[in-house]
Amino acid sequence: MKVAMIGAGLMGAPMAEKLLEREYDVLVYNRTKSKAEYLVERGADICDSAADAVKQSEIIVVMLSDYYAICETLFKEKIDYSSKKVFQMSTISPGENLILSERISKLGGEFIEAPVLGSIKQVQERELFVLVGSTEKQFEENELFLKAFGDKIIHVGKIGKASALKLALNHLIASITNSFSLSLGYVLENKINVETFMEILRESALYAPTFDKKLDNMLNRDFDNPNFPLKHLLKDVNLISDEFTKSGLFTAQLDGVRETIKKGLQLKNADKDYSSLYNAVHPKKK
Ligand SMILES: NC(=O)c1ccc[n+]([C@@H]2O[C@H](COP(=O)([O-])OP(=O)(O)OC[C@H]3O[C@@H](n4cnc5c(N)ncnc54)[C@H](OP(=O)(O)O)[C@@H]3O)[C@@H](O)[C@H]2O)c1
Repeated sequence: MKVAMIGAGLMGAPMAEKLLEREYDVLVYNRTKSKAEYLVERGADICDSAADAVKQSEIIVVMLSDYYAICETLFKEKIDYSSKKVFQMSTISPGENLILSERISKLGGEFIEAPVLGSIKQVQERELFVLVGSTEKQFEENELFLKAFGDKIIHVGKIGKASALKLALNHLIASITNSFSLSLGYVLENKINVETFMEILRESALYAPTFDKKLDNMLNRDFDNPNFPLKHLLKDVNLISDEFTKSGLFTAQLDGVRETIKKGLQLKNADKDYSSLYNAVHPKKK
């Protein structure tokens, strides 16, 4: 079966590798072609346009930055989607997924929403959570294909429900990282032993594994190998803030998180790991 992988960024490229491991014929399209070229050695074909990749494939997997990038890529040229299945795996809002679903079905295709929880390591180890927004029938028909990315394929509900759940989970990434950065910065400024702080935290109900995962990066201010770039966390926090507000929630806390991330972008951390928001919370002394 031929699969078009649209987007070979931090997530899309290793996802293409997982498809190749499952012996699909993989056609990759990436706006910056050079980033995808290493996949040729692994057996992929690189296409010059999204239209070219889609035309030759039965299944299309989309892993792009945001809704704008998706529209630019899937609809810029006239592409015939008849009899094609589109798995939209990027993090976008429920409303954006619903619009894409309508547009793809008008062009003759089938649309499945499938955002993921987990990052590069989880792709490499086939341990992503894949959240599916589709009918029951679509889920049953497509669960096996999605198992290329992990065994945790979860049918959340109809289109829109999977991206809503993804935003609920990503809210925790933003808020927990911001909160941990604040506490760590305060501990350091007060010359309290960081290991004492961490030992108590690890034994307490307040602990989250992400604290230890990001601790050394924060202490060394080393954010150069991003798993998830800070600029995408800003995109997510903007979506989360809009969606939570629409649900009637009081979201003042998110305004603070957003301002912190924006400050991180001003510090030129946009392409660094999202944990670089620590640099904004606890600025380096000159
Ligand atoms: N990284 C993670 O841990 C993670 C985890 C779960 C979900 N996600 C979500 O997965 C999606 C991809 O994330 P990523 O980390 O792989 O991001 P990334 O490395 O920045 O890759 C973004 C991809 O989108 C393409 N792109 C951006 N703007 C475009 C435009 N205007 N037109 C065409 N293509 C465009 C990029 O092409 P170029 O290479 O040409 O720039 C690249 O292929 C995002 O929605 C993100 O929120 C990420």
